[in-house]
Amino acid sequence: MLSKTAFGEYDLFTIINKNGMSISVTQLGATLQSVRVFDRKGALSDVILGYDSPEEYLKNDGYFGASVGRYANRIKGACFTLGGKEYKLTANDGKNTLHGGEGISFKRFTAHAGDNSVRFTLCDPDGADGFPGRLELAVEYSLSDDNELAISYSAVSDKDTVLNLTNHSYFNLRGHGAVTEHELWINADEYLPVDAELIPLASPAPVEGTAFDFREQRRIEHSFYDHCFVLHGDGACARLYEPESGRVMTVTTDMPAVQLYTAGAMTERRGKGGAVYSPAGALCLETQLFPDSPNRPDFPSCILKAGECYSSRTVFKFETD
Ligand code: BGC
Repeated sequence: MLSKTAFGEYDLFTIINKNGMSISVTQLGATLQSVRVFDRKGALSDVILGYDSPEEYLKNDGYFGASVGRYANRIKGACFTLGGKEYKLTANDGKNTLHGGEGISFKRFTAHAGDNSVRFTLCDPDGADGFPGRLELAVEYSLSDDNELAISYSAVSDKDTVLNLTNHSYFNLRGHGAVTEHELWINADEYLPVDAELIPLASPAPVEGTAFDFREQRRIEHSFYDHCFVLHGDGACARLYEPESGRVMTVTTDMPAVQLYTAGAMTERRGKGGAVYSPAGALCLETQLFPDSPNRPDFPSCILKAGECYSSRTVFKFETD
């Protein structure tokens, strides 16, 4: 069931499934504003960080719940070459581009509501943040009666371009507290070592024997994660478990990588309902292409040819254990 309420000058859509699980999404940045799920005793909690007003989202340096593009993660030196032409981008992370520069996360999307889904569309002009091509973009959220939150992306550009879209939700399956107490499994044998500016170094490295080995579900423990994990094709790529509530979130994607960010760089702030959000109080599992792929022909391609359709889908399924 879907309902619509005002969110300042934007619309907020809430979808409730037959179990009582719900999500709220807003056209501001095609943002996921809340995800309310049951724990093993049947108590509902909101398991993502966010804000109660669009004004706070517009100052949202953490990209809470936002759709991120045109290029999620970093592009070294805020430039890349495509078809023999150099494109200069907005640098917003030192000399580099992070999450597209000005990006799409603060833009007003047009909303198209269904019964258990909302599709947000945006026409991003040629040259936005320096990226080539007029991009027709759609982000669709849906919630099934199996407690599956699906996020589907599709896009077409009128010029060859690069594209890497993700969702930037910060999850805490207890609703609050240190996320390092959660347990995590990631289906990755390799991760990307990075330099001091979080730009990938030479090539993927094995997780074996490092703090990046999540091949057996285990306590996260550390808060320094801001790294890209290389996935094994389609299927479940990550499972997050919070022992006290029993909540489990399983992530499935068709993307080749997932960025694990344990919010170590997030500054303390107040969020929804006045809650205090502290560093490492939540984590992001951002399914995506590899960082800096526009400059890395050795990485899976991020090139979207003119007129071709970009499409990707990530599902977050909620259960208790
Ligand atoms: C990046 C972090 C960054 C955060 C907020 C994450 O996706 O990997 O380095 O601090 O987004 O922008």
